[in-house]
Amino acid sequence: MGIDYKKKNNLKPETLILSYGYVPAWSEYALKPPIYQTSTFIFKSAEEGKKFFEIAYGLREKEPTESIGLIYSRLNNPNIEILEDRLTLYDEAEDSAVFSSGMSAISTTILTFLKPKDKIFYSFPLYGGTYYFFEHFLKDFDIEVIKFYISDKNIFERIKIEKPKIIYIETPANPTLEVIDMEKFSKISKEIGAILIVDNTFLGPIYQKPLRFGADLVVYSATKYISGHSDVVAGAVVGYSKYINQIKTTRTFLGTITDPINAWLILRSLETLKIRFEKQTQNAIKIANFLKNHPKVRKVYYLGLLEGEQYEIYKKQCLGPGAMISFDIDGDEKVAFKFLNNLKVFKLAVSLGGTESLAEHPYSMTHSDIENEEKLKIGISDSMIRLSIGIENVDDLINDLKQAFENL
Ligand SMILES: Cc1ncc(COP(=O)(O)O)c(C=O)c1O
Repeated sequence: MGIDYKKKNNLKPETLILSYGYVPAWSEYALKPPIYQTSTFIFKSAEEGKKFFEIAYGLREKEPTESIGLIYSRLNNPNIEILEDRLTLYDEAEDSAVFSSGMSAISTTILTFLKPKDKIFYSFPLYGGTYYFFEHFLKDFDIEVIKFYISDKNIFERIKIEKPKIIYIETPANPTLEVIDMEKFSKISKEIGAILIVDNTFLGPIYQKPLRFGADLVVYSATKYISGHSDVVAGAVVGYSKYINQIKTTRTFLGTITDPINAWLILRSLETLKIRFEKQTQNAIKIANFLKNHPKVRKVYYLGLLEGEQYEIYKKQCLGPGAMISFDIDGDEKVAFKFLNNLKVFKLAVSLGGTESLAEHPYSMTHSDIENEEKLKIGISDSMIRLSIGIENVDDLINDLKQAFENL
């Protein structure tokens, strides 16, 4: 194109996120990128078609200012390309790839690097769907899947002996909000030549930047804070180009990319990611303190209330406590269900990170696939309730929780 549409001019991510990666001349000077709702793209000539395929198959390097080489929307599309450029900004990454869901981001990434007989270590607890993929799917491909508890003090010795190809950590962990020292895992992964993947869904790129702490790749359920309005299912991986290029090739052949409308919606959402998340976090801090002092609450799990070693890790690597809170109600599953059924402003639904507040029961919902004994071992009891805090008036949210407790 002859235009360096990726020039940053020393601007901050909040400014760049509004315009980076898009040239209005592409579309009649429309201020915002239109939705490129097309499955395929016309080549100017057969020679150009040949060149684009050479770039797509890695036979030839693309010049930084060259046209993006559009071929077919399973490989790329302007909405996807603009989104991928913008997703690098907050994470300070070289490149990113977007997907049809968080699970397709995770599965496509893992399947890019693991071959039969390889080993993967993963931290536990973590999101139930990821657990299912590791335990019930990867094992069938003759991949050695090794789970470790976040509290495991011998983990670095075990990793040194087993030499896994991938170390996968979710920090903070869903739903117990435990944090994992990314720097320590980065050190060991570099020592043994493993790839360190961090699921950063809970804090998003606003409150945690895992690449700063040595992660090789960061995965997201973009369904959550990145989209932020509970109307999109999508995923993303950000990190170094040498890995992202390989992941994009796998994505092309698994067909796990997202579509132009979803990408356009996420572009819109990204513009308000920071201000949404800041407001959600302000609300969450007040709600966590309300819960901490409530006589019908046994324990609150919130990054803003961590103590001891967990607090030290939080302080080192997190930029804020975010808007996810879990708590144990004083009672069993029956009491927890009654509480959930009493809620009026909070909606009883899984997922998180949207503008509206949600409540769910991890034991019987998001983490129900994990054996009961295992759940109890890691602190997911039938009295645990998980809250995702939205942007509502915080007094309305606290009053809703108050009346749900009073009517137990
Ligand atoms: C931490 C975490 N990672 C990954 C996922 C999977 O994302 P998706 O539902 O977009 O496939 C979720 C979903 O809840 C999650 O909470």
